[in-house]
Amino acid sequence: MSGWSHRHVLDLAAFSREDFAAVLELAHRFRSLPVTGARKLPALQGRLVASLFFEPSTRTRSSFELAAKRLSADVQSFSPSSSSLSKGESVLDTARTYVAMGADVLVVRHRSTGVPEQLASALDQAGDRTVVLNGGDGLHSHPSQGLLDLYTLARYFDPAHPLPEVLQGKRVAIVGDILHSRVARSNLWALTACGVDVVLCGPPSLVPAAFAQFVEEPPPGQALDPVPHRGRITVERTLEQALPGADAVMTLRLQKERMGQQLLTTLNRYHQDFGLTRDRLALCGADVPVLHPGPVNRGVEMASEVLDDSAICLVEEQVRNGVPIRMALLYLMAAADSSLVSINS
Ligand code: NCD
Repeated sequence: MSGWSHRHVLDLAAFSREDFAAVLELAHRFRSLPVTGARKLPALQGRLVASLFFEPSTRTRSSFELAAKRLSADVQSFSPSSSSLSKGESVLDTARTYVAMGADVLVVRHRSTGVPEQLASALDQAGDRTVVLNGGDGLHSHPSQGLLDLYTLARYFDPAHPLPEVLQGKRVAIVGDILHSRVARSNLWALTACGVDVVLCGPPSLVPAAFAQFVEEPPPGQALDPVPHRGRITVERTLEQALPGADAVMTLRLQKERMGQQLLTTLNRYHQDFGLTRDRLALCGADVPVLHPGPVNRGVEMASEVLDDSAICLVEEQVRNGVPIRMALLYLMAAADSSLVSINS
């Protein structure tokens, strides 16, 4: 844990394999603990976590808040419609208000790419010690989701040792609306860092061919990729090409709210071509697990027969794993700031 170097957590492009291992190892320890109120961990006692969700959320927001409470932090949540945002206050001034109230961590979700990063650099420039955790920004990044998906997969393949190395050499198909998905982008960084080959599948309007080069250049401002040998990314246009040989399949919600123009003919047609059904999944072989970050458009991205089959569908498992993963992130960020936190105290 001493190697943890991320003050803010804004995306996963700068995560090394050791960083992924640190989060998964800690999450696994947290997941094994009893969850009753009496057994809360005192690690973040006296700390304030503010959850600033400027865009709707069910899972991410609740699980960050629960994670903070399980570590004994005080949690302050914010609702855009009933806040002074509706009176014209800016996002930065809203964030500063929570910093003035003593927030140690801001968990930020915003519909525009880059907002958590802008807040983090404004806080750094002002000399504030508050850290920013990205809860999902525009099309760009959703680091905690990428981490919980990684943990869910590692746990599926090796429940006793769910660490990045168990994923080396696996093949994961990601199907659907990659273009608008921050979850897909975070998964591309996380999975390839752990040696997973990723096959992206969807129509050209939702999966541009350029995604095959997604991880080849580090993002602006990052001199080097911290991972030496990444998995490969390929793009396929049909499930018949993408699914054979896959060890797991992830499908993504059609992000209709982010589609500026009509990118699909009809939802029925999309389901016919890219919806996951039992028959389709047979192309991968038996018992291949299916993931979806939620919320699911039932009957569009996958048929109910898949969504409701707990033997292969890991959607609820992903939600369950979200809490210990977010506990691990909060813990690591707080620990980097102080030597006072202890998992055993
Ligand atoms: C995702 C998100 O908000 O990016 N959901 C989530 O956080 N679990 C995916 C989505 O909205 O489709």
